[in-house]
Amino acid sequence: MLTSQTPFPQKFMTLERHIIEGERNHPGATGKLSGLLTGLLIAAKLVWREVTKAGLVNILGTTDRMNISGDIVKKLDEFADQTIYKSMDHLGHLCVMASEENEDLLQIPTNYPNGKYVLLYDPLDGSGNIDANITIGSIFSVYRRVTSSGPGTIQDVLQPGHRQVAAGYALFGSSMMFVYTTGHGVHGFTLDPSVGEFLLSHENIRIPKKGAIYSTNEGNFGRWSPAMQKYVHYLKQEDEATGRPYSARYVGSMVADVHRTLLYGGIYCYPGDTKNTKGKLRLMYENNPLAYIVEQAGGAATDGTKRILDVLPESLHERCPLFIGSEEDVRCAQEFLEGKR
Ligand code: AHG
Ligand code: MN
Ligand code: MN
Repeated sequence: MLTSQTPFPQKFMTLERHIIEGERNHPGATGKLSGLLTGLLIAAKLVWREVTKAGLVNILGTTDRMNISGDIVKKLDEFADQTIYKSMDHLGHLCVMASEENEDLLQIPTNYPNGKYVLLYDPLDGSGNIDANITIGSIFSVYRRVTSSGPGTIQDVLQPGHRQVAAGYALFGSSMMFVYTTGHGVHGFTLDPSVGEFLLSHENIRIPKKGAIYSTNEGNFGRWSPAMQKYVHYLKQEDEATGRPYSARYVGSMVADVHRTLLYGGIYCYPGDTKNTKGKLRLMYENNPLAYIVEQAGGAATDGTKRILDVLPESLHERCPLFIGSEEDVRCAQEFLEGKR
């Protein structure tokens, strides 16, 4: 006979159920964060629907405007940006949003209530890969507001990454995944298209302490510091005792490169160089959420001198070097960058 004690098969742990059960472990939780995450999930599904159609309809190609970082905005970037904003603006959980694609803060429309959370997002990461049908994703980061009421301000947004209360990403690959943390481990869900539900496929992800893969745009080698060049040269040398040479893997969508690193171990690097002294990646929309996730899985993330989550942001779209992955690999990279090796 089926009773409430009958073990629930893992494959039926839906994402919504996981979010609700996580909330119940927090006495005093109001359900707002759960509502926010559920809103993001719906937004991610809408983006995925367009991504899967991208090769079929006239949505491929570029728009004619640039974003604040000077990139050409792809049509799907714009679609994802607006879809996430519109999925989240009316729920009453947020007081302000900010996205990689918009120069200024995204305010909540005045006819909707302001909530206690702040949402930052990269609507589509790896968008240069869209036309080649290569894995891309959406990244999000959630903070509690620091101002007390009314519309959110820049003060609410410019918080160090260690204050995040949730972070995650939707990955649009050979299947769609949703990976998130609320500070209690990292959990991955895979969309079962036959029922339209995300099912728990990667419970409590733990990144290996050390890996054997490095991931970086080595085309920039000539612009790197001698220390960075020395580190990558070291990874390619033969040494059985330390598992070298490492394999090179680089998708060019950091969300996909970091996802692989999370599962297989190793390191993803986007260093500063002579052209871009702080590298390419954006602290608020890329580095902080992925650093929070990787730390929650037992890994590490640094800018070469300090922990990413301790970097004090100064502006909305600032860039920041990133070395992220297995604890031992990040430590080794940092030793090279500090000139200790
Ligand atoms: P986005 O598509 O959001 O602008 O981000 C692109 C980023 C990141 O996803 C990726 O790892 C990196 O740019 C790739 O840069 P390179 O082309 O310099 O390798
Ligand atoms: Mn990005
Ligand atoms: Mn982007």
